[in-house]
Amino acid sequence: MSNTAGSMAVTNLEEAETSDLSLRSNDTLGDRHIWSRLWFPHFASCPGHSKVVNLLGENAEVSVVGRTAFMVAAERALEAERKDALFEDPFAKALSGSDGLTMSDRLGEAASQFGFDGWPEFHKVWTVVRTKFIDDLISRDTAEIPQMVNLGAGVDTRPYRLDAYKQFKASYEVDTAEVNAVKTAFFSHNRATSLCPVVNVSADFCQAGMLSEKLTEAGFDSQASAVFLIEGVLDFLEEQAEPFLTEVLGPLAAPGSLAIINYAIGPQRPGTFTSTKLKQLLEGLGWQNLQISVFGDERLNYGRYKEGLAPSEDWAFATCVKGAVGPTPEAQEQ
Ligand SMILES: C[S@@+](CC[C@H](N)C(=O)[O-])C[C@H]1O[C@@H](n2cnc3c(N)ncnc32)[C@H](O)[C@@H]1O
Repeated sequence: MSNTAGSMAVTNLEEAETSDLSLRSNDTLGDRHIWSRLWFPHFASCPGHSKVVNLLGENAEVSVVGRTAFMVAAERALEAERKDALFEDPFAKALSGSDGLTMSDRLGEAASQFGFDGWPEFHKVWTVVRTKFIDDLISRDTAEIPQMVNLGAGVDTRPYRLDAYKQFKASYEVDTAEVNAVKTAFFSHNRATSLCPVVNVSADFCQAGMLSEKLTEAGFDSQASAVFLIEGVLDFLEEQAEPFLTEVLGPLAAPGSLAIINYAIGPQRPGTFTSTKLKQLLEGLGWQNLQISVFGDERLNYGRYKEGLAPSEDWAFATCVKGAVGPTPEAQEQ
């Protein structure tokens, strides 16, 4: 597949930061991601791994992996329009781009491949309950934590809509340069006011060490606690998922940090975890109070899960806090 990210056409936007707009070819995620391969056949109207995302009357070309961020925005927008919405998101609709909703509908057509036969809305509902789950956790459990790090942030809008962000000295929103370029242009164009300083950081999680370097350059303080949010991204990392977690939740995470990790349980794809394996990894890095929640259980349901369907372990969250005791010697040796 050709890489066309270098031809992004957001440069006419006066307020766009131009530093993010010149992209190297390896900034765009391509064939190596199993979820692209799994999802792509369902996006029949989307030839190639890049497509135009039109947010501002300007076009940007973004890879299929990057475009999943706009798909999630489209799913949040549907919820925000409901009378009984579980959250508000005034930016979500505009952030859906030209094909966010189409991508979501295509994914719904493939529901049976994800174990949700006869439930084409499964991913729309998943996005809604996970958004609410994370919103509630951040609002409830982060009062003493000074920094937010959102890894694979996509076009998340929490810094602009969730009051709890007022307490953060900064929210580091990490994603690829191609997604950050579109996001930066969008929020700048809309003159949106964030509730804490937002620092967009561009990094590829599959490149060892890059994340630590870029976060430190951006001002992240590894001596202070942080919320580490990993939402909807681990699946794309395949065998890099474990080194990525080790890098971000090891020396970068000070005691008192909170991790909110969305992952898939099971042996079916590279990069998926069993709960035991994830528990071992996290405990080895000094994390405690591990709680696992799965799609449809009492914590990840909100009355939206399909009636009569058993909870699905393919869509799960681990939450835990970093203890005062450091990593075990075994984990340090790795
Ligand atoms: C499904 S979206 C989720 C976005 C956001 N967390 C949310 O839930 O709305 C996945 C995001 O992960 C990012 N991503 C995937 N692989 C990545 C990598 N290797 N390095 C950095 N970001 C990556 C994509 O660019 C995309 O924005």
